[in-house]
Amino acid sequence: MSQHLTDAPSSAAAPAADDAERRDWWRDAVIYQVYPRSFADANGDGMGDLPGVTARLPYLRDLGVDAVWLSPFYASPQADAGYDVADYRAVDPVFGTLNDADDLVRAAHALGLRVIVDVVPNHCSDQHEWFKQALREGAGSPLRDRFHFRPGKGAHGELPPNDWESIFGGPAWTRTVDGDGRPGEWYLHLFAPEQPDFNWKHPAVHDEFRSVLRFWLDLGVDGFRVDVAHGLVKADGLPDIGHSEQLALLGTATMPYFDQDGVHEIYRDWRQILDEYAPRLRPGAAPSDRIAVAEAWTPTIERAALYLRPDELHQAFNFEYLSAGWDAAELRAVVERSLSAMGAVGAPATWVLSNHDVTRHATRFANPPGGGTQLREPGDRELGLRRARAAALLMLALPGSAYLYQGEELGLPDVTDLPDEVRQDPSFFRAAGQDGFRDGCRVPIPWSGTEAPYGFGPVPGGPSWLPQPPEWAGLSVEAQQGDPGSTLELYRAALRLRRELPALGAGAAVTWLDAPQGVLAFRRDAPEGAAGTGNATEAADGAGSGFVCTVNTTGAPVELAAPGRPLLSSAAGGAAQPVDGDSAVRVTIAADTAIWWAI
Ligand code: GLC
Repeated sequence: MSQHLTDAPSSAAAPAADDAERRDWWRDAVIYQVYPRSFADANGDGMGDLPGVTARLPYLRDLGVDAVWLSPFYASPQADAGYDVADYRAVDPVFGTLNDADDLVRAAHALGLRVIVDVVPNHCSDQHEWFKQALREGAGSPLRDRFHFRPGKGAHGELPPNDWESIFGGPAWTRTVDGDGRPGEWYLHLFAPEQPDFNWKHPAVHDEFRSVLRFWLDLGVDGFRVDVAHGLVKADGLPDIGHSEQLALLGTATMPYFDQDGVHEIYRDWRQILDEYAPRLRPGAAPSDRIAVAEAWTPTIERAALYLRPDELHQAFNFEYLSAGWDAAELRAVVERSLSAMGAVGAPATWVLSNHDVTRHATRFANPPGGGTQLREPGDRELGLRRARAAALLMLALPGSAYLYQGEELGLPDVTDLPDEVRQDPSFFRAAGQDGFRDGCRVPIPWSGTEAPYGFGPVPGGPSWLPQPPEWAGLSVEAQQGDPGSTLELYRAALRLRRELPALGAGAAVTWLDAPQGVLAFRRDAPEGAAGTGNATEAADGAGSGFVCTVNTTGAPVELAAPGRPLLSSAAGGAAQPVDGDSAVRVTIAADTAIWWAI
């Protein structure tokens, strides 16, 4: 099933010429997260795979994204859905082969799409050769220094070496068993016991990851998403925290295992490696265009910006934005803070609403605010979808780069009622079912047809690793394609306009406009000398090059002065309604609706 370059459609054989002319593609890129387990299953075993992704790349090109980020597909026992890596240079057979990865990268480039892969440097799998050997060799072996092995406390070493708690629940330490069957040392795992943490004070760990980065760069990838980028360095002496319920402290306090200043040295080193690689589409231009994006949960946006200083990484996920409620004041505050923190280090802001670790935003916005990002209730679905569509237009109107999570362009909700017996998220089991509802956002994508797995796999009635709800037949790509009121067509239209309008995309500022309570209104202007990548004049139909986005976050219609000519509305029924037939003066914007305007 692997698709070779020569199989790619001829119309897509070369990268778009305009792309070749663009500087710093990542500054305003729209990057689509593919979760390989759940995207497309080419071989029908119920699990998505790389040939499945390759076959669907034309869909992503047509959607209008710039790049694809793939969650891990490396050799792994799948104790944490592939975030437990046993071999960083091999593809897990469940996803295909290294040749399939190569095919995918080439096919993506032929379509003008970039490819970003995950790198998981904080921990590996307990089935990684280094860890297996370290276990075999026992206490005192230098191989154990590549991890955090420690004797236990208590008279018989029966207590963990410190009080750290795993992010997935329970202690962050597991005791080993020696060759003679007696209890031995403990090892540190911030996540599942099957995910031992590397010791980044050991030079072999640095060398290994330099080599892993080069391996994938040599294969042609355009960059990396750095898993748990804030976790690599632990405070000297692994000090106690002195507090239980440590999860509640995350993101607010500095923890001895997160966001330690020592991580920055690692990223300065990695940046040099990325910069060694010549730009792919603009030979001769400097610097390199290979990028890295940090998954860095930090106490403040300003701390996240430190990862993006000019000699470190390129982008970081904006988790503060992802966690913001559907509230104009809150959204405006986080947008302002993000632009100012990222602007201070010359990095683009990024925006994200969903990913494989949190409840999908169509469900988050369907629930009362303040419930967090692991929700169990479906909430008011219609409301959630309406807000999700408006949130998409808001996100895509902001300056910088946006991350989409597969299926959000279909308006998919979280599946909140998965039976316990099909769940696979390790945090669900570690936390005794109290937390860890990440499977709900990982249910395979519906592509077509009326019978599960809805084109996810090749055979109607065939398997899928998590069951899809029956109502997803109506949400499939096939069902939405060509329907102007569908969420899919809304995303396509928005992404097309984003390419065409010079005012959208890169840039570092918005100009806020006066607006009624609960409404966001801001203007974007084309930077000096900027041209969109398409025909802006045609898109704006004779209007100037300015752009305004208005978002009504309230549950009631609001009336306001029309800022210009409506281009796109998140309301399925169309654009703003003129008041008294005078669209040039006052319009009514429906509840929970965003509108793009040309001015
Ligand atoms: C990151 C991943 C998450 C994984 C964890 C441990 O947060 O996004 O899915 O469980 O790291 O690797």
